[in-house]
Amino acid sequence: MAGSSFGKYFTVTTWGESHGEAVGVVVDGCPAGLPLAEADIQAWLDRRRPGQSRYATARQEADQVQILSGVFEGLTTGTPISLMVKNKDHHSADYSNIKNTYRPGHADYTFDAKYGFRDYRGGGRSSGRETLGRVAAGAIAAKILGKLGILIESRIVSIGGIEAEREEEVKAFLEQVMAEKDSAGGVAECVIWGVPAGVGEPVFDKLDARLAEAMMSIGAVKGVEIGDGFSVASRRGSENNDAFRADENGTIYKKTNHAGGVLGGISDGSRIVVRAAFKPTPSIARPQETVTTTGENTELVIHGRHDPLVLQRALVVMEAMAALAVLDLMLANMHATLAGIQKFYGVESFYGIIPEDGKE
Ligand SMILES: Cc1cc2nc3c(=O)[nH]c(=O)nc-3n(C[C@H](O)[C@H](O)[C@H](O)COP(=O)(O)O)c2cc1C
Repeated sequence: MAGSSFGKYFTVTTWGESHGEAVGVVVDGCPAGLPLAEADIQAWLDRRRPGQSRYATARQEADQVQILSGVFEGLTTGTPISLMVKNKDHHSADYSNIKNTYRPGHADYTFDAKYGFRDYRGGGRSSGRETLGRVAAGAIAAKILGKLGILIESRIVSIGGIEAEREEEVKAFLEQVMAEKDSAGGVAECVIWGVPAGVGEPVFDKLDARLAEAMMSIGAVKGVEIGDGFSVASRRGSENNDAFRADENGTIYKKTNHAGGVLGGISDGSRIVVRAAFKPTPSIARPQETVTTTGENTELVIHGRHDPLVLQRALVVMEAMAALAVLDLMLANMHATLAGIQKFYGVESFYGIIPEDGKE
């Protein structure tokens, strides 16, 4: 498998290149009976659309989603849902100077090393545009999670090391970065509310491991933290442990949430907190040292339109990936106990063939 799919039970496969005909996703494993319209998905896609901010690429694209299959009379049918967004604002000529030159910080060199050639028009599969498919699939996952009382939110924590609340400072920093034909990175946070205790598998499919994989698979993400993340390394156990208490009804809660809602790879019922560090956008308009595909030293100036800051458009991608990871593990959790399976099938015990009278 070439790594374009995510999830075992709610499986999404993204497809398409930045400057090809279209990009999209196939979602398999979506339960039947979910009301789903293009507008549900479009609302999510609109949040990642370029051209909405001074600090995002000026590429203007309608990014209109089309549902090609898996929905009938407004309801999902339980069959694969295929979603497509046509690419309209191609401008392939903008990328002609990177055809024979490797952009520092981008995936050109590694794609050539792996495949021997690459779709150089806008980065092909390594373009931020690939995330359209994830966001479209994430919109469906989030809608299902919403029916289960689960809500996902995200925010920018810092830009270029400056806390996002210090708005004027951040703006001044970004203006300077842009004036210098440079780019900036930052940290974003995603919080998942309402996940009950017990979601996530104990070993390889830990909830935190799947969330880390989900976030790290987003282009430009270079670090992921769950809960207090790296800062726990300098604490004592007595400071870092979240004390358990029970309220007057005997309901268990934690006094703090340093763990970010995950213990032993399994949700503990508190809010789940995941942060991602985004590197500065690799495509910058100032001259950079690089090499040609035939190994000559050269200098590159990138003329295409790029996000000076990936972060704003990546928030909805983080939410989508969080939704996909959590929903997949919630579906996996449905067969975690015999009692759960018996409840689902409406039988008390299940030894081979059940006699016609329903008794063993
Ligand atoms: C929403 C989004 C938009 C992006 N936009 C750009 C862009 O305009 N220009 C660019 O060079 N990289 C952009 N990137 C980052 C590249 O896709 C990424 O840095 C590249 O594929 C190399 O992968 P890596 O940074 O994970 O190693 C974007 C990423 C995301 C998630």
